Parts: sequence; C-alpha cells; structure tokens
Amino acid sequence: KRPAGAPDKDLARPVTKVGIVGAGLMASQLALLFARRLEVPVVMTDLDDERVNKGVGYVHAEVDKLLGKSRVTPDQANRYKALVSGSTDKSVFADADFVIEAVFERMDIKQQVFTELESIVSAECIIATNTSSLSVTEMASVLRTPERVVGFHFFNPVAVLPLLEIIRGEHTDDATLATAFATSKALKKSSVLVKDAPAFVVNRLLLRLTAEILTATDRGTPLEVADKALLKLGLPMSPFVLLQLVGPAVVLHVLESLNAAFPDRFPVSENLRRLVESGKPGVWSWDEKGKPYLEDDTAAL
Ligand code: 3HC
Repeated sequence: KRPAGAPDKDLARPVTKVGIVGAGLMASQLALLFARRLEVPVVMTDLDDERVNKGVGYVHAEVDKLLGKSRVTPDQANRYKALVSGSTDKSVFADADFVIEAVFERMDIKQQVFTELESIVSAECIIATNTSSLSVTEMASVLRTPERVVGFHFFNPVAVLPLLEIIRGEHTDDATLATAFATSKALKKSSVLVKDAPAFVVNRLLLRLTAEILTATDRGTPLEVADKALLKLGLPMSPFVLLQLVGPAVVLHVLESLNAAFPDRFPVSENLRRLVESGKPGVWSWDEKGKPYLEDDTAAL
C-alpha cells in the first residue's frame, strides 16, 4: 500500500551511491543504515581527517557489535565495513545519486553546504537534509534546482527507531519524493509525509513536553521528580537521558527555532542554556535541592 501522500513509485530513481555530509554521531548512524540496508557505497565527508576517521570508526565498531550479537554474518560485516568510506573532499559526491546532509543545525551553514553540493553532484542527484527543525523550503531556496531537495528526518538511535519523517518542500518534485519514499522502504523505515513547518510533527510534540519539563526545573521542581515521574508513566526513557542521547545543544537549537515561531508555547529553559553554554555536555544530574549539575564532564553523548 502506498503511504499517504506518496507519489507513484514508478517515478523513483535508483540509488547506487550515497553521500553523507558530516561524520558526527547522526551522520555515522546514517552511514551504517544506508550501507546495511541498501548495500551500496556510502561516503561521509567532514572538515578534517580526525572527524572523518572517527565517523568511519564508529561504523566499524557498530558492525562489530552486530557481529558479536550474531545479527550479521562475518561476510556481511566485512561487506558493510568495506562499503563505508570517508573523505574531506566533497568531490567524492560527484557520482552519488542521493546525498544527505547531517551538519550543524544552522540555516546559513546548511545553505552553504547545499550550494557547494549543487556545484558537485549530478543534475539527477537527490539532495536531502536531516534537519530537526529548519525549513526545507528556505534551505533549498539558495539552489538553482530546489525541486530535488527533500527533508529526510531520522530519530535517535537510528538503528532502532523505525520512524522517518519525509518533508516536502515547496518546490520538491514528485520524482524526488518518490525516490525518498522508495529509499525509506529499502531502509526498512516507516515513513510519514509531513508539512514543512517548524520542527515538523514529532519534534514539535516532543519539544513541547521537554520545554515544559525543563522550565519546571527552572522554577524549582527537582529534576529527579520530573524525570522519575515520566519514567514511571511509561515513557521508554527518562526525559533527561533522552536529552543526553539527542545532545543538549541540538535540543537547544530546535527549541530556539520553535521559540522564534511560537514564543508562548516553547519557552527556552535557563537550565538548558546554562548546560549548553558551559560547553561541557556531560551527564546531567541534580543536587539535593533539585538543581541540575554536570555529573561527569567527560562522558560523550
Ligand atoms: N545505538 C544503537 N543501538 C542502540 C542504541 C544506540 N544508541 N541504544 C540502544 N540500542 C539498541 C540496543 O543495542 C538493543 O539492541 P539489541 O536488541 O540488538 O540488543 C536495543 O536497541 C534495545 O536496547 P536496550 O535493551 O538497551 O534498551 P531499551 O529497550 O530501553 O531501548 C531505546 C532503548 C530504543 C533507546 C528506548 O529507550 C527508546 O526508544 N527511547 C526513546 C528514544 C527517542 O524518543 N528518540 C527520539 C529522540 S528525538 C530525535 O532523535 C530527533 C532529533 O531531530 C532531535
């Protein structure tokens, strides 16, 4: 059955090589997913060798974990590892059919990436964004060919969560959308087509809850109370563990986008701002008065 709003699947173009702009945690999770599910070459790029090597190293380590759990065979493990490579030079995207950016959540940076990509990739290549909250239409507005731009928004941890939001920008054409849906299916994700609105659907809902919890702690509700209450309500993960999983800086950026669009509905918590501005996104805990503090500065998110 065709997902709601998906165009005719015959319009979909084949994807034989994938490019990922960025080699951070989200980008690396995407690299593994694309290599494992599409079994095509996947190349990640980032600013320097250290970042690139870290991204490729993450993929190798995750493949080893899957092998350790017998989720993949030794042959598959070797194949997936061989399919993923990294570079600091975006010209490796010249023969890609599908390039997705997963760089810093700022419009000017993403537009700069898009402009650069347009000068490298083929005319048919899909240019996708994994943005959490920014307008896909505005991002595409700097391109001569905005019709091949689509939002392709994954959720953390990418390997586990089945959902994918597909966002149609104002100019996205049917072939691009059909390719996005076909790719989502090949990735074994459940996709929903959502409007190009601030934070789309899922983050709009999730951030409303998160914003309220965080401002409750600003007003003195002990963090532990808010955290435990929601966990006992049946959420799969406590809100503050989720905050660490997604990354406080990402949450702050999404919250700021939403605050700009709907100031009353999405207050920006002082505690969150303080945490991000400390530059030490470690494990967040609370003191005896319920005030948040960083338990371990060194813990990676
Ligand atoms: N990366 C890869 N795999 C992971 C993982 C990670 N970070 N965390 C857990 N897993 C895997 C485990 O290895 C395990 O796999 P296995 O079955 O093969 O052994 C499986 O997931 C289940 O893990 P656990 O048994 O350890 O833990 P849980 O059953 O408690 O599930 C969870 C963990 C799936 C993370 C669950 O707690 C959950 O769904 N939490 C909510 C996550 C969520 O809401 N994410 C959305 C965030 S918003 C977002 O990403 C959007 C962005 O734009 C901000």
